[in-house]
Amino acid sequence: MSDLKSVLGEAVEAAFAAIGAPPELGRVTPSDRPDLADFQSNGALAAAKRLAKNPREIATAVAEKLQGDPRLASVEIAGPGFINLKLADAALADRANAIAADPRAGAETVAHARKIIVDYGGPNVAKPMHVGHLRASIIGESIKRLYRFRGDEVIGDAHFGDWGYQMGLLIGAVMDEQPAVAAVVEAINAGGEGDVSTFDAVSLADLDRLYPEAAAKGKTDTDYRDRARKITAALQTKQPGYYALWQRFRDVTRVALERDFHALGVDFDWWKGESDVEHLIQPMVAELDAKGLLVDDQGARIIRVAREGETKKKKLPDGSVVTVPSPDPLLVVSSEGSAMYGTTDLATILDRKQAFGPDLVIYCVDQRQADHFEIVFRAAYLAGYATEGQLEHIGFGTMNGTDGKPFKTREGGVLKLNDLIQLALGKARERLQEAGLGENLPPEEFEATAGKVAVAALKFADLQNFRGTSYVFDLDRFMSFEGKTGPYLLYQAVRVKSILRRAAQEAEGGEGAAQGPVTVTEPAERDLVLTLDAFDAALTEAYDKKAPNALAEHAYRLSQSFSKFYANCPIMQAEPAVKASRLTLAATTLRQLELALDLLGVSTPERM
Ligand code: ARG
Repeated sequence: MSDLKSVLGEAVEAAFAAIGAPPELGRVTPSDRPDLADFQSNGALAAAKRLAKNPREIATAVAEKLQGDPRLASVEIAGPGFINLKLADAALADRANAIAADPRAGAETVAHARKIIVDYGGPNVAKPMHVGHLRASIIGESIKRLYRFRGDEVIGDAHFGDWGYQMGLLIGAVMDEQPAVAAVVEAINAGGEGDVSTFDAVSLADLDRLYPEAAAKGKTDTDYRDRARKITAALQTKQPGYYALWQRFRDVTRVALERDFHALGVDFDWWKGESDVEHLIQPMVAELDAKGLLVDDQGARIIRVAREGETKKKKLPDGSVVTVPSPDPLLVVSSEGSAMYGTTDLATILDRKQAFGPDLVIYCVDQRQADHFEIVFRAAYLAGYATEGQLEHIGFGTMNGTDGKPFKTREGGVLKLNDLIQLALGKARERLQEAGLGENLPPEEFEATAGKVAVAALKFADLQNFRGTSYVFDLDRFMSFEGKTGPYLLYQAVRVKSILRRAAQEAEGGEGAAQGPVTVTEPAERDLVLTLDAFDAALTEAYDKKAPNALAEHAYRLSQSFSKFYANCPIMQAEPAVKASRLTLAATTLRQLELALDLLGVSTPERM
């Protein structure tokens, strides 16, 4: 089953070929003038140049070839040689019936399914989530769902940050503050016994409080920083006391993070950490060495990834400027002997290759890490752990405050995921009450609905922008039931649900018709069917460009088309066959809207 746009495109391409013009010029696009036509082809202009003919002549010849195609109500030439195509009502009705009968509401699957890993979210032990993580989670979740829906085999992995310098910082800070914990760590480190249940006293709140302090101190106090580095290196050799305490950190953080992510409708298939590739690092380093890729650099070991002639200018602390290779080398082993962020990323590429063998890994991470990924990918290609094109970083802009800088709380801190969720939830409750929605719902259902409204608001506000674009965090606007917002879309979906419920009740009571075959007569019906038809094109665009905003746009357009249809085409009062047709259109719209929203990571309530 193909969409009308492709089917028509093929017919027009064949007509171009039949008159000796390059067929690809026959491409059709949705009409700029929906009042005059449904689709148009502008190819006659280019064909005229190639064939040294008059464009109107070409257009007329093409139109002649298309005469008699039963799917077309009219073919007209406009202006210098635009071909305007209007579909026959019956062709629209056929397509509507096909979409109605399709559980996927007109969505195709890819011809060749691939194995894909989406690396997204990227939360860390103790380090609070910042807005970059929020976007990574929202965009990554949508891309994961979209790829899976199109037929690929997809794994979403959180790539939990649990093995870096921040672990050493935190272990030191907790030991400084909690002598009982420190005593147990030291006893175990020394090979003795220790009661690890002592570590239960270390709470998430402790970590939240201590981490920023320790991070700040590590920046100014070099002794403090060196100690943290040493602890990190010792942790990475699994020194037992540190390792036991670290397990506590990892576990308390993960439980809380998983809960917050889940509230946001973000759920990972794999929750692997940087630490999970620990066992691969030594053999990897040995292998990289054997391949001649490792270079000693002042006690550290690096891989040079810049090619001949790739350089950048760099300013030294003394103010002088030198030319150095660019990108920077990958730091594989630090001078303390520890594995770095890039080291675990490289080992993870190896791990994923062994565990799953992905055709493509999509890293959905803040644009500010673009250089990091360029370096890691190059190293992976040099080492033969992946081939060019198998690793792709898709970056994104930031969510900004009204000052145009990455969003911060009023106190100037990073906004924690849980606080954001609570903030959005509070606003959602308020909005529902103001709008007089959900008044008759039992308290539990009201809460669940508020949760869905909150998630829809946050996610839609993010996903309606192309990911490269930054946007301003404005909860009031995101949460409005009017305009291009998540709550507006939920409201539309709920409205369709209530129409269908009412119709079902009547049908049960023997008074009304159930759904029946679609017929198309009114302009608003045409428009709705054409919008339903455009679903697959939106999916294809979102998939190819890794850009969920194409899908967000479609969901919004569909809601608008439905609104117009509902305002102009009475359903319940129509005569039985028309009513049945319109109910089918309503049910099909709902299915497609819910599918699209689900791919954005948004779920709809039953009522409001
Ligand atoms: N934990 C990292 C951070 O907070 C993000 C991880 C992204 N994924 C990756 N494979 N490096 O910056």
